[in-house]
Amino acid sequence: MTEAELYLDYKGVYVPKLLHPPECLKYYEEFNFRQDDILIVTYPKSGTTWMQEIVPLIKSEGDLTPVQTIPNWERVPWLEVDRTRILNVEERPSPRLFATHFHYNMMPESFFKVKPKVLYVLRNPKDVFTSSFYYHGMALFLVNPGTVDEFMEKFLNGKVMFGSWFDHVKGWIHSKDQEHILHIFYEEMIMDLKGSVRKLSYFLGKSLSEEVIEKISDHCVFKNMKQNKMSNHSLVSAKIFDQTKSEFLRKGISGDWRNTLNTAQSDHFDSVYEEKMKDVKFKYVWD
Ligand code: A3P
Repeated sequence: MTEAELYLDYKGVYVPKLLHPPECLKYYEEFNFRQDDILIVTYPKSGTTWMQEIVPLIKSEGDLTPVQTIPNWERVPWLEVDRTRILNVEERPSPRLFATHFHYNMMPESFFKVKPKVLYVLRNPKDVFTSSFYYHGMALFLVNPGTVDEFMEKFLNGKVMFGSWFDHVKGWIHSKDQEHILHIFYEEMIMDLKGSVRKLSYFLGKSLSEEVIEKISDHCVFKNMKQNKMSNHSLVSAKIFDQTKSEFLRKGISGDWRNTLNTAQSDHFDSVYEEKMKDVKFKYVWD
């Protein structure tokens, strides 16, 4: 099926119609944040699910019950997803945990007034591309990716769900009021998960013992988290995800783009990256 059939153009980016009908986008537009809400913000395939595991464990101070009993989409609901409307999140005690793939300039009015805490996760865009390529092949509500070359043209031009990686990252890293936003890199979490859990807890105002940090990190390493049926998306219908094609928790490494892109594709990606990111203040270093 085509983009016109499967996607809606919402504020200039594609969103899959199945997950984001107009009523739920309206609900998000009118959503009232609280100052102590914690919002995980990502471009898709940057580590959202990983953070939906780590952050509830920081909140519960290492008690595994929430992540072992509540599916990730309920414990940290995406505000733009249809089923969030029935979760009655208005009644949840603080601090509430949410996720969103929205660009900075798509956020609702209340976000800019209230300034809840934001955890913005960045990942090497070539790995985001690679993860996304496989995801578009298994998520049945998305347009089939075609070849790597075909999907790369779409990805680099933002003609994929949630639009351009470049616009998403630039919007969030250049956003105003940076003191309520923490930027964290997927690669730093891979290299030093304990250090990352410590950094996140500090930002969230939680003082955790080394023992608790160790427990959270151990639970959240890829091979352990992959076993958690509340987080590995195995509970999702085969009509939505065909995990025989590619698992949702696929490889969980950095640098996997090398197994998907050839030298010419990688060089092309780099040259587009250089051009699109030339006005960006920070240098993203990856291998
Ligand atoms: P891969 O497809 O490269 O394996 P999102 O949750 O934003 O959709 O991102 C999914 C990506 O994060 C997938 O990448 C997935 O495997 C990876 N991921 C999820 N949990 C992880 C973990 N505990 N450690 C490392 N990577 C993880």
